[in-house]
Amino acid sequence: MADLPNGSCCSLNPLELFEQVTAQGEKVRSLKAEKASKDEIDAAVKLLLSLKLSYKTATGQDYKAGSPPADFTPLSNGPGNAEEDDFVDPWTVQTSNAKGVDYDKLIVRFGSSKIDKDLINRIERVTGHKPHHFLRRGIFFSHRDMNQILDAYENKKPFYLYTGRGPSSEAMHVGHLVPFIFTKWLQEVFNVPLVIQLTDDEKYLWKDLSVEKAYQYAIENVKDIIACGFDVNKTFIFSDLHYLGTSPEFYKNIVKIQKHVTFNQVKGIFGFSDSDCIGKISFPAIQAAPSFSTSFPQIFNSKHDIQCLIPCAIDQDPYFRMTRDVAPRIGFPKPALLHSVFFPALQGAQTKMSASDPNSSIFLTDTPKQIKTKINKHAFSGGKDTIEEHRKYGGNCDVDVSYMYLTFFLEDDDKLEQIKQAYSSGALLTGELKKTLIETLQPLIAAHQQRRKQITSEEVKQFMTPRKLAFDY
Ligand code: TRP
Repeated sequence: MADLPNGSCCSLNPLELFEQVTAQGEKVRSLKAEKASKDEIDAAVKLLLSLKLSYKTATGQDYKAGSPPADFTPLSNGPGNAEEDDFVDPWTVQTSNAKGVDYDKLIVRFGSSKIDKDLINRIERVTGHKPHHFLRRGIFFSHRDMNQILDAYENKKPFYLYTGRGPSSEAMHVGHLVPFIFTKWLQEVFNVPLVIQLTDDEKYLWKDLSVEKAYQYAIENVKDIIACGFDVNKTFIFSDLHYLGTSPEFYKNIVKIQKHVTFNQVKGIFGFSDSDCIGKISFPAIQAAPSFSTSFPQIFNSKHDIQCLIPCAIDQDPYFRMTRDVAPRIGFPKPALLHSVFFPALQGAQTKMSASDPNSSIFLTDTPKQIKTKINKHAFSGGKDTIEEHRKYGGNCDVDVSYMYLTFFLEDDDKLEQIKQAYSSGALLTGELKKTLIETLQPLIAAHQQRRKQITSEEVKQFMTPRKLAFDY
């Protein structure tokens, strides 16, 4: 599809039309502000009205500023109140609220669905497994089409899992494990194939890295991913820089996606500008392609209709909104999604962590002593300034990072609830809460390091070799 000028409405999808109406509205406003000639303003208004009409014809709804059509919401640069709204895109997560991003609002803005009690109960019924604590505690909080996946599973129809990681450095932190821990659980309870994409190309394009370095980071990250316990007979892990050049079917899907997404669309979704390199502009097609089963003919026997389920952090949703919009137009099922919240930085839930700041999180390479020092020194506390005040008023779990980390890593529900009660009432002090977190993370990380140490390059190679997995299609 070509990039169409304003007014050529007919082949535009609802989001494109929405963007055109928004842009034209801005144009009218600026013409008025500049006191342009009446003719010029009238012409712009006329075009605006005809675009609004096209929008209504396409969506059945009136254009409403700030409310893009569902399932294809531009985020970062969408209209909204910059001071109140959280800012979320694949590269930046920012909020002024110490409790972190307002996820209920995000569900509305992104047009996804909340993972509610009913859905969690259904997952339990269908799989016969107690729902993972990430589900029970709202850490995976939003989804798209998860009920379709459960229908498929109940009807013995196959589906597969896809997740990924951008290897921006050798060092992964505990937060990076969240999607992988959850994906491993999904793989176990549903017994399905899993593909894991390492977007070393993405990191090369976005960061100051050589391609060689990006690939090297990918391989180092793969070891941490394998250490989460994935089954080699059911899992294919690939680096874009390596696998793409070996797979004609994967590349065909990339090109199909590229043909069906315009520059306007990616600008609307990702905020790209005219001066971004073309590598960035076309990259979303590469992250979209693994959502389609024909990208992996060796696994799916070239079947094109096997649905994909993608567990990811909510900041990755823009990629998959784009993917879901394209899918039916190129003859594939839309991928379903499960979205997680962000893992808070030690300093507070306002921002996403940075792998370049060693104090912003607990790294998988940290020693027990480093873990202890970092938590004691840097974990933002919701406790009161003095012991007297704390005993009197209690601490605030909503902003306390140590408590938040426990919701991720302390599996025992009763113990977590006790801690919450005791901290909120003031019976438990910040130092004691931190001690519990330290004692939870130290063994967890030591065990991870132990497993990682034992991974050989032969094993890495096995996971990364394109091959049939333990499933027949
Ligand atoms: N872009 C992601 C990142 O920077 C990596 C990624 C690729 C991914 N494919 C994915 C993440 C699928 C989740 C699901 O981390």
